[in-house]
Amino acid sequence: MKILVVDDEAPVRDIVRKGLSQMGGYGVEVAQNGVEAIEKIEKDVFDLVLTDLKMPEMDGIELLKTIKGTRPEVMVILMTAYGSIETAVEAMRIGANDYITKPVDLNELLIHISKAQKEGLLLRENRLLRMEVRKKFEFSNIIGKSKKMQEIFSLIEKVALGSSTVIIYGGSGTGKELVAKAIHYNSPRVDRAFIPFNCGAIPETLVESELFGHTKGAFTGAVQAKKGLFEEADGGTLFLDEISTILPSVQVKLLRVLQEKEVMKVGSTERTKIDVRMIAATNENLEANMKNGKFREDLFYRLHVFPIFLPDLKDRREDIPLLAYHFLDLYNKEAKKEIKGISKEAIKFLLEYHWPGNVRELENVIERAVIMTDQDYLVANDLPKDLTEGFSEMIKRGVKDRKSLGDIKSEYIKEILKEAGGNKRVASEILKVNPRTLYRFEKKGPP
Ligand SMILES: Nc1ncnc2c1ncn2[C@@H]1O[C@H](COP(=O)(O)OP(=O)(O)OP(=O)(O)O)[C@@H](O)[C@H]1O
Ligand SMILES: [Mg+2]
Repeated sequence: MKILVVDDEAPVRDIVRKGLSQMGGYGVEVAQNGVEAIEKIEKDVFDLVLTDLKMPEMDGIELLKTIKGTRPEVMVILMTAYGSIETAVEAMRIGANDYITKPVDLNELLIHISKAQKEGLLLRENRLLRMEVRKKFEFSNIIGKSKKMQEIFSLIEKVALGSSTVIIYGGSGTGKELVAKAIHYNSPRVDRAFIPFNCGAIPETLVESELFGHTKGAFTGAVQAKKGLFEEADGGTLFLDEISTILPSVQVKLLRVLQEKEVMKVGSTERTKIDVRMIAATNENLEANMKNGKFREDLFYRLHVFPIFLPDLKDRREDIPLLAYHFLDLYNKEAKKEIKGISKEAIKFLLEYHWPGNVRELENVIERAVIMTDQDYLVANDLPKDLTEGFSEMIKRGVKDRKSLGDIKSEYIKEILKEAGGNKRVASEILKVNPRTLYRFEKKGPP
């Protein structure tokens, strides 16, 4: 292990350096102040920095901040005089691993160092693991290792750079809003507003004035002029959720915004130029709606510039364990619990379930399980019944809306009898059964 000792007093530096190399067998270098320390850290790899708190030029706190900002894996222990213990505690909050009071007792220092070393190893392992997950399988809070999700990550990355209109298709809870946010936060518009608006959540007649604003007295109830969301989102991104629900009259206006890049308030003919990236989302088949005449064709093509199709969770099952653990971490924090993991059996059930509510449903299942359990691991018992009793669930559904073999036989027999004009001998020839079977069928139902 390599240690850098930073102190402006030469005698302290010397004593500590000698002590650590002779008694602890560590490789030790020294620096006079923060600036010199940073230079050395940039050139060489240190595992631990032992620094004085009060130094001219750059003090210990500033040095600590710089290290945690650029080399967070480097451990930092502060040396502090009695009077500045409060500062030391503050330093721990910023990320110092430990502190020790001056004058330095070498034995005590060695104990602190070996303790930090052990913690550091654990932390570093965890960090590497998480970083790997992050780098490979996470993009702006979106988790996914499946090929489908990896492709979506690269689509997001590409489309984020420009300003083209995006439309996101996907079932409920597949992550449409999350993707919309990822596009905005990875785009040059990141410092401007991201405004989400659910077109289906408010009365259809109010959507227009919400989006475009209205003048004073434009309609009854419009007591004051109001800016629309397009203007609010100027320079940024407007996310229009459930776009399929908008009325034809609003569709026309939306088309104009997309074409002319200007809005007109309800009750006004004045045009205002705007610069808004529009992202729409829907869980309906907009193309089918267009073909049925429910959605304007010209608007469809204006929106359908850059479509992103989010797959159902059941079509990317390899993401399920990853997501489950992601939500476990999240709700552990929220519920202040330390549940260590999810049992293999529980994961098996999660993998088999058909997830009609997609990722949101999985999130809810894990949240509930975290709250309910008293154990260290989530087990099958912590999952809702319809997940663990998946098969009986299928049978119930089967009885309800599936035809039985008997139903199909009777239908077919009736059909042939009808074709044969009720002649059982002819029908039995076609069906290759004994005519008696058909007599019996008429009395008792299907064979
Ligand atoms: N790939 C993912 N990684 C991590 N979290 C996800 C992922 N997909 C969805 N989520 C989470 O699931 C929940 C639902 O996601 P979101 O609201 O984006 O879905 P949606 O498609 O907009 O749903 P709805 O159609 O119901 O509005 C959110 O809490 C979101 O953070
Ligand atoms: Mg949504």
